Amino acid sequence: MRIGVFCSGGDAPGMNACVRAVVRRAISEGHDVVGINRGYQGLLDEDFFINAMGEPLMTLRSVSGWSRIGGAFLRSSRSAEFRTEAGVKKAVSILEKHRIDALVPIGGDGTFHGAVDLAKLWNGRIVGCPGTIDNDLMGTDFTIGFSTAVQTAVEAVDKIRDTAESHERMFLVEVMGRHSGFIAVHTALAAGAECVCVPETKTDIPAIVRDLHQLKARGKTSVMMIVAEGDEEGDAAKLNEDLKAAGNPFSTRCVILGHLQRGGSPSPEDRILASSVGDSAVGAILAGQTGVMAGVIGGQPRLTLFEDTYTKHKPIPSELSSLIERLAR
Ligand code: F6P
Repeated sequence: MRIGVFCSGGDAPGMNACVRAVVRRAISEGHDVVGINRGYQGLLDEDFFINAMGEPLMTLRSVSGWSRIGGAFLRSSRSAEFRTEAGVKKAVSILEKHRIDALVPIGGDGTFHGAVDLAKLWNGRIVGCPGTIDNDLMGTDFTIGFSTAVQTAVEAVDKIRDTAESHERMFLVEVMGRHSGFIAVHTALAAGAECVCVPETKTDIPAIVRDLHQLKARGKTSVMMIVAEGDEEGDAAKLNEDLKAAGNPFSTRCVILGHLQRGGSPSPEDRILASSVGDSAVGAILAGQTGVMAGVIGGQPRLTLFEDTYTKHKPIPSELSSLIERLAR
């Protein structure tokens, strides 16, 4: 078989480790791997990875050392052209022209939406891998990049806490997560933050201000509030204004961590997850599967229909949020 692999959507630490696993498993079972650069857009542009011999095929050596490097060597993109019917038709003719039998897209919900559209017109096999720092896909406990993003955010919050302590201030730290509060909740718990605002729960400004007064009365001199960028009440700057207007007793500053969270060497957890799902995706393709994402639930490999990975919202375990509250004294 000729298996195409690509990264799509926001890059995530561990995507390279996942490509490495796809390449090594497929080649060791006697199959060819075509690396597609720049996601769906690269497919439309026939932009393929060229190996050391100048051929558009990946080799065992093409991916040497990829596990420990962040970013996406195959590069990534969000393709507007592929979202059109003409774009999908063009992709099908390119896949046929290059005799590609199967695809392993590595990405998040947008990537899998694209895979579903492609599957309507193309009869090759498609098995995806969950690659997004947001951890917002059903069918896997964690997504590739989430663990590293949280680690990066926690390191940053720890540093900001030093300044918060020195100046007796409150910091609002905005983390990524367009529709999901996973990064915010895990960061808040690990960094010992006093407050977390996520899109999944209502952000109650008067209640937060009451809590802040209590914290101050109990002798707290610094406060960290972690805000998911997609919080329904607004971003960190907006919440800061709202808290001030409602009588926040602390002097405040805002920090937006932004794309810092998407880079860096992947954590061991991300490397292990990426290796495992990359290997499973190829195994699933060889076993005749299609239209599914390879995830890991409770330590066991699990295949989930693409549609089921993004149609339901992945809930944040409520015990994590209540633990943050209980410990923020
Ligand atoms: O989906 C991953 C993510 O990092 C989100 O958390 C964030 O909102 C978005 O991508 C940012 O995308 P871009 O890099 O295109 O600005």
